[in-house]
Amino acid sequence: MSALSGKHIILGICGGIAAYKSVTLLRLLIKAGAEVQVVMTPAGKEFITPVTLSSLSQKPVVSEFFTANTGEWHSHVDLGLWADCMVIAPATASTIGKMAHGIADNMLVTTYLSAKSQVFVAPAMDLDMMAHPSTTANINLLRSYGNIIIEPESGELASGLVGKGRMEEPEKIAETLERYFSATVDMKGKKVLVTAGPTHEKIDPVRFIGNYSSGKMGYALAEECASRGAEVTLVSGPVSLSVHNPAVKLVRVESAREMLAACEEAFPSSDVAVMCAAVADYAPRTVADHKIKREHSDVPVIELVKNPDIAATLGKMKRSGQLLVGFALETDNEADNAREKLKRKNLDMIVLNSMRDKGAGFGTDTNKVTVFKADGSREEFGLKPKSEVATDIVDAIMSI
Ligand code: C5P
Repeated sequence: MSALSGKHIILGICGGIAAYKSVTLLRLLIKAGAEVQVVMTPAGKEFITPVTLSSLSQKPVVSEFFTANTGEWHSHVDLGLWADCMVIAPATASTIGKMAHGIADNMLVTTYLSAKSQVFVAPAMDLDMMAHPSTTANINLLRSYGNIIIEPESGELASGLVGKGRMEEPEKIAETLERYFSATVDMKGKKVLVTAGPTHEKIDPVRFIGNYSSGKMGYALAEECASRGAEVTLVSGPVSLSVHNPAVKLVRVESAREMLAACEEAFPSSDVAVMCAAVADYAPRTVADHKIKREHSDVPVIELVKNPDIAATLGKMKRSGQLLVGFALETDNEADNAREKLKRKNLDMIVLNSMRDKGAGFGTDTNKVTVFKADGSREEFGLKPKSEVATDIVDAIMSI
């Protein structure tokens, strides 16, 4: 049986050529057993008739606030409460802009603003509109509110031009919804602490000691835990990434000491802590108040002191029932070094990425990891995008 069976879905249709594909999407959702309420923008009706849609959905299409002849008011609030999810396909630049800024001048946008459930947005527009900075900014805003964007594809567009802006195929959209409803929420009620990115250790007001960590693995882990129902605190060093899931609370820090303080605060109430940050091992003993000048005759000597080991500190604080996971980035004797760290830091699991593997480690979008658990077991995974590696790692954590 489909995960969509019995689900209440609002299908929002805007005025774009891709609206003809919404008919197929509607059929797929109905065939999978969903109950679908179509809500159209006034422009949507120029592209596809409400009669077609109401026949397929077996429900009158809603487009206006009132039925003209009876004066019956259509409650966007009731609709918002009824829905298990809302999918807007196609979503035009105009509707995306209205949704991003709360311009509630039609039934579709008011319904969106009243919706309590997950909203999926499948943009469709010409390539230049899609590439416009205002569209990008609006889509990013929608993402930051927790909406899931079903990215358009590149291909031939109604204008005859070729580029990004084709609405995702109805089969793929239906699959995304199906996946959403069948997703595991095995971390519901759990609190997870994740560290990510590098740390910057100040030398003077304009210089620091850092490393090449991009934060991508830690952010992917935080998103994965949140999508599985966890409440996540992501303590992040300086990186240029943003979080999409509102269940992720981002705490930005700069140095290892700041990261330690944030972790010491969050760890006692956490069920799981994943130490993914590439914490600088050393920091300058003192930070110069003024920029160190090149004109000085002496070459400056920067004296370093050891940074606290955050993972090991949490390992000492760990209570029974809490799980602590670390990472190891090794160049040689990988497995032995990883196992030694697992023990020394009192971890329950360690994730090894080898610097020898192409596409693994710092800065890349992919990773190849091997997981070692405290019970002595070991599992090796292939080279995959970091989001999929995050799924493997969280699966491994949940199996401890
Ligand atoms: O000892 P090493 O730096 O190789 O250990 C890596 C693991 O320890 C990672 O999980 C990293 O996040 C954590 N770590 C830490 N604090 C440090 C150094 C490493 O939490 N100062």
